[in-house]
Amino acid sequence: MTKKKTAAKSLLRVGASAKAILNAPKSRKTMARPAKTRIIAICNQKGGCGKTTTVINLAAGLASMGQRVLVVDLDAQCNSTVGLGIDADEVDTSIFDLMVDLKGTSVEDVIVETDYENLHVAPASIELSEFDSRVANEIGRENRLKKGLAKLPPIYDYILIDTPPSLGLLSVNALNAANEVHIAMQAHPFAFDGLNQLLDTIGSVREEINTTLDISGIIVTMFDPRTRISREIVDRLLEMSEISKCVYKTVVRQNVKLTEASKVRKPVMYYDAACTGTEDYLDLSEEVCARVAVAKTSEKTDVTSATH
Ligand SMILES: Nc1ncnc2c1ncn2[C@@H]1O[C@H](COP(=O)(O)OP(=O)(O)OP(=O)(O)O)[C@@H](O)[C@H]1O
Ligand SMILES: [Mg+2]
Repeated sequence: MTKKKTAAKSLLRVGASAKAILNAPKSRKTMARPAKTRIIAICNQKGGCGKTTTVINLAAGLASMGQRVLVVDLDAQCNSTVGLGIDADEVDTSIFDLMVDLKGTSVEDVIVETDYENLHVAPASIELSEFDSRVANEIGRENRLKKGLAKLPPIYDYILIDTPPSLGLLSVNALNAANEVHIAMQAHPFAFDGLNQLLDTIGSVREEINTTLDISGIIVTMFDPRTRISREIVDRLLEMSEISKCVYKTVVRQNVKLTEASKVRKPVMYYDAACTGTEDYLDLSEEVCARVAVAKTSEKTDVTSATH
């Protein structure tokens, strides 16, 4: 039996599993869970700026704090699927199947368990590289992910969507399905190239198809505290009036352990509990949780006891 089939069956008892957390760092406090599922697209059309590393390690951090998390991998490179320990060759129903064949494939068919409690994945497949051409002439092609996820029972606190390094139809699907966008920004001199284009795309999606989409986080990655350029990137972001309030206090420092962890297909906190990568992503996870607790206090009445 493949991992996929096991996971589909256990979908409705996510969080109730007796899985041990292997080599987990000393757990931090359990954070309050959001009243409603937060669907967050992690975006930037720039390649290699830390989107996937953030999705994997933020997802693991949130899950370790008692949040029920689903990672949706929308990138044909399958990096977040593989980085969470799923063998891409063993995936026989991927997010691509859900998005091209809404009638035949249910979202439960796609979701797989990981080795980590509270953390599931809707895996990618290489076929995603054909998505744009497969649906090119179809009406509602920018709605495929949203429709697919709409059938999901409300069991997750967070759905994190990893996006490809382009502003094509897959990224538009992610922005349409999400209620929030977090932008990963590498602390690098070229980090601002393309930012306006990304903000324009987000603006168009908000205007045309997803009016409540919120840019709610800017995550600075690969920060090098020894360099002036890293500090300048943060200062420049803080000067941009339209996004400055979204910049997380936690910056993710450069840390080679993050790359080593991805090579052994684990979140960094299960690879080296003491490294700065673990510290930064756990701090970021706390900040992500705390931010909604502050912002949405007035919506807390909506918690459904059946699912929480
Ligand atoms: N904070 C960090 N310190 C050191 N290396 C990092 C850090 N964050 C990411 N990396 C490394 O940088 C590379 C690119 O990261 P990642 O794959 O997360 O970027 P991405 O934005 O998802 O790329 P793509 O656009 O191709 O999907 C990887 O080798 C990753 O291990
Ligand atoms: Mg990636």
